[in-house]
Amino acid sequence: MVIKSAEFVCSNTKVDKLPPPVLPEYAFIGRSNVGKSSLINALAQHKGLAKTSQTPGKTQLINHFLINKDWYLVDLPGYGYAKTAKSNRSEWEKFIKKYIFSRENLQCIFVLIDSRLPPQKIDLDFCCLLGEKGIPFVLVFTKADKQSKAKSESNIALFRKALLTWFEEIPPHILTSSETRLGCDEVLNLIDEVNQRFAI
Ligand code: GTP
Ligand code: MG
Repeated sequence: MVIKSAEFVCSNTKVDKLPPPVLPEYAFIGRSNVGKSSLINALAQHKGLAKTSQTPGKTQLINHFLINKDWYLVDLPGYGYAKTAKSNRSEWEKFIKKYIFSRENLQCIFVLIDSRLPPQKIDLDFCCLLGEKGIPFVLVFTKADKQSKAKSESNIALFRKALLTWFEEIPPHILTSSETRLGCDEVLNLIDEVNQRFAI
């Protein structure tokens, strides 16, 4: 898919103030600092579109980016950021869960996992929550440029194995790097396929 345009539309905490649900959208979720905003910029080929930071907790709102005037990429705040106050954390849970569970034009959630780490409970728990609710998702392993391919593949295998405890069928996965754009075309192709179906 060729990216012809990418524009910021709005930031929200209120699900009822989001853009009308008439275009397909794809959300990026995962632990704070896993690389959600960076991946959105790499996909859109637009540095600075989504704000990134070395400090976890940068993205605090639901951010909509309109791509090719036809579909949305959605950047979400991360989970598991220790410094976020407990009250904020439950607010996060409330509004993110409301978004995930009620957004009717949400086609797929990309769950980002740091490819450098062995399976983390917080990521497995989040996948299980999606599984329980029957929400489709794709696993996106990030920061592949930071270690050998063998190390990434070994962590991916461990994560998939851990998921098999709860899932009969493991969702597809893509290994990515926002630095090298590894896997970006794969993510965009997947989005393109779903967009075609949405158009029918
Ligand atoms: P929050 O908004 O805080 O939840 O974080 P986020 O998941 O949006 O992470 P963000 O994209 O801001 O990236 C966090 C840090 O990781 C930044 O310093 C990025 O430059 C770095 N980073 C993200 N993706 C990659 C990658 O693929 N390779 C490398 N080398 N660094 C990355
Ligand atoms: Mg972010």
